[in-house]
Amino acid sequence: MIIHKAEFFVSNSDVALCPVTTLPEYAFIGRSNVGKSSLINALTNHKSLAKTSSTPGKTQLINHFLINEKWFITDLPGYGYAKVSKGVKAGWENMISQYLIKRQNLLYTFVLVDSRHSPQKIDIEFINWLGEKQIPFCIVFTKIDKLGRAAATKNIEDYRNTLLQYWEELPFNFVTSAEKKEGIKEILDFIENSNLVHHP
Ligand code: GTP
Ligand code: MG
Repeated sequence: MIIHKAEFFVSNSDVALCPVTTLPEYAFIGRSNVGKSSLINALTNHKSLAKTSSTPGKTQLINHFLINEKWFITDLPGYGYAKVSKGVKAGWENMISQYLIKRQNLLYTFVLVDSRHSPQKIDIEFINWLGEKQIPFCIVFTKIDKLGRAAATKNIEDYRNTLLQYWEELPFNFVTSAEKKEGIKEILDFIENSNLVHHP
């Protein structure tokens, strides 16, 4: 799929205030600093459509981007960011969970997982929560350029094996680098196909 137009649409903190639309929507979620905003920029071929930062906790709202005037990407705050107060954290978690549960036009959630780490409890719990709520999702391993192929492959295998303790079947997954633009075409092809299935 060629992205010829990607524009910021709106930001807010409440699913009830998100744009009223039936256009397909894809959300990007994962631990703080995992690379959500960077991946969105790589997918849309923009340098700074979504705001990125080396300091965790940069994205704090539900940010809608309209792509090719036909579908939406949402950039969400990261979960598990330790350096904010309990109240703020609970507020973000509530905002994210309400959005994921209630957003009618949300077709897939891309859960980003840092390929440099062994399976993290918080990611596994989040993925299992999506399963409980029957929210369709894919897993995206990020920052593959930061370590060698072999080490990344081992971490990804560990993740898959950990998930298989809870799941009979694993969701679709992508291996990516926003930096080196790896895995971008695969995600765009997946979205294109999903758009066709839902909005032929
Ligand atoms: P929050 O909004 O704070 O939750 O973070 P985020 O998940 O949106 O992460 P963001 O895209 O802001 O990236 C965090 C840091 O990781 C930045 O310093 C990025 O440059 C870096 N980063 C993201 N993706 C990649 C990647 O594929 N490779 C490398 N080497 N660095 C990356
Ligand atoms: Mg972000």
